[in-house]
Amino acid sequence: MDKYIINGGKKLHGVVDVMAAKNAVLPIIACCIMIKDVVVLKGCERLTDVENMMRIIRNLGGRCDFDSNDLIIDCKKLSRHSVSHELTGALRSSVFILGPLLSRLHRAEISYPGGCDIGLRPIDLHLEGLKNLGVKLSEDEEKISCDGRNIHSGIISLAFPSVGATENLIMAATLASGRTVIRNAAAEPEIIDLQNFINAMGGNVHGAGSGVVIIDGVSSLHGGVYSPIRDRISAGTFLIGGAMCGGKVTVKGIRSDWLFSLTEKLRLAGAVVTEKLGEITVESDGALRILRKVETQPFPGFPTDLQAPITAMMSASKGRGYVIENLFENRFRHTRELKKMGADIIVCGRAATVRGAKLHGANVIAQDLRGGAALVLAGLKAEGKTEIIGLEHIDRGYYNFEEKITSLGGDIKRVKISCV
Ligand code: UD1
Repeated sequence: MDKYIINGGKKLHGVVDVMAAKNAVLPIIACCIMIKDVVVLKGCERLTDVENMMRIIRNLGGRCDFDSNDLIIDCKKLSRHSVSHELTGALRSSVFILGPLLSRLHRAEISYPGGCDIGLRPIDLHLEGLKNLGVKLSEDEEKISCDGRNIHSGIISLAFPSVGATENLIMAATLASGRTVIRNAAAEPEIIDLQNFINAMGGNVHGAGSGVVIIDGVSSLHGGVYSPIRDRISAGTFLIGGAMCGGKVTVKGIRSDWLFSLTEKLRLAGAVVTEKLGEITVESDGALRILRKVETQPFPGFPTDLQAPITAMMSASKGRGYVIENLFENRFRHTRELKKMGADIIVCGRAATVRGAKLHGANVIAQDLRGGAALVLAGLKAEGKTEIIGLEHIDRGYYNFEEKITSLGGDIKRVKISCV
């Protein structure tokens, strides 16, 4: 087990080149299940979530390896339709294998997926959508079994624009004959990327990003080389860090229209944000005005995955503001840890009232991925020493986080926790 030791108070200066988005790579790896050929994904990092999805592919009989930053996936010989509980329990995105397995083998079996404990996270929308495509389901307390021998195209109206359900259903329909329409589909850039990947491999999907996705089934997909989009959440985390600590931070590889809900907020807080083709720069003296209200919404609204980092920023700004979390009902656990660092936050249901305060170092625990990143940012801003444990959560979505922060001038070390 490792911990971070952070000596706060340093300004951040420099450039971070963000790599492939975790939330784009995970469904694309799952999508490879239905491709009887080799796929190379460029620019990937060894995030724990990616490694866990690779283990699932191997468990099903496929091959999956890193060659530097290329992820090579070969599912020619994939033959199993069920994955062990241990593997699905480690990763919420394991649910993505349902659609591709049904497309390829017409059956699938998984136990209930795990992942960050940020809310109930049901998968009813995935399962209802599959039923619309003719999939027969049987569930018990431990597992879900899907019979897709009669899988067909269909019309699906999602009760909520779930990112994962939209992606799963796109994949389930990719090889089903006829036209499938998904209404009230999520519009996140990662869904457009999944569409682009499928089309690059011979599929016929359009409309992603508009709220209505149309899938015209094809008989097979072929292999190829693909570069998934870069990670807007990782980019946003570094931009928030630059704004709250002060200095000048540039993130490269990212489209500014994916992050305008954040950059607009950073400007309101008093930071200077400049956007060029493929890069965003934030400049700040670190003395920010608090944001009056941040409310998470599906894309293009403010992303729930940046709620914890922006809450950390607000807790060290001047004034009083509100954060409303509309997506996940248990996504304020970082506030308890931020309070140990001097933050003044009162949580009531889905709303947090934040009064700006001077943060100081403390010993804190990362309890989920983005909440963990928020604690790192708070530690970089705070006066004195902060120690953070629970790094396994942060490793799920940030690779070599400490090296990237060090390259910006932050004082952070990753050390082994000694057992006595
Ligand atoms: C994805 C992202 C995650 C992000 C989230 C919201 C990946 C791998 N993860 O997660 O980082 O925080 O989108 O942008 O892409 N819901 C249901 N029933 C379902 C599915 C979802 O009620 O069947 C609810 C969830 O409990 C939640 C809301 O819908 O309240 C949004 O969830 P969803 O968009 O599905 O998020 P994920 O795909 O799990």
